[in-house]
Amino acid sequence: MDKAETTSEADLVRICEIAAEYSQQKWALIPLVQKVQNEFGYIPPQAIPIIASTLRLFPSQVQGVISFYTQLYTEPRGKRIVRVCRGTACHVRGGKTILKLVKQHLSIEEGQTTPDLEYTLETVACIGVCALAPNIVIGKDTHGNMNPKKVARLFEDRKGGG
Ligand code: FES
Repeated sequence: MDKAETTSEADLVRICEIAAEYSQQKWALIPLVQKVQNEFGYIPPQAIPIIASTLRLFPSQVQGVISFYTQLYTEPRGKRIVRVCRGTACHVRGGKTILKLVKQHLSIEEGQTTPDLEYTLETVACIGVCALAPNIVIGKDTHGNMNPKKVARLFEDRKGGG
């Protein structure tokens, strides 16, 4: 199923309500898209024309701003964001293998979200705890000294992938 199709009519009504708070205020594009994202976890593509017409902008202008900021998303994200450190210390201590294993357990590539919307996989630069390399972060929790067994334990509920 196309994830974009999951936006319901009620969601669209809510997006219109949020947009109406900033009616015709072009300067408010960033706060408006952030508010939509805070509420929905991402910016549904259907929100873009609504936001554009409310602020009297072109949809391409709204899309352009959303694409510019890496913290703005137009696809649903997982409940848990998994970040594998790709900093130097983690890299030399096997971070690449850890990333490969996490990909296998979740059956997704970097930048993707599992179809059940449980996990999104990302990589990050050094997270500042190099002594514990290799590290991964799940939500707000950092897991250090990762090895294949620990990765398997963290994702044991994902046996069979997906
Ligand atoms: S390189 Fe991974 S925590 Fe510093």
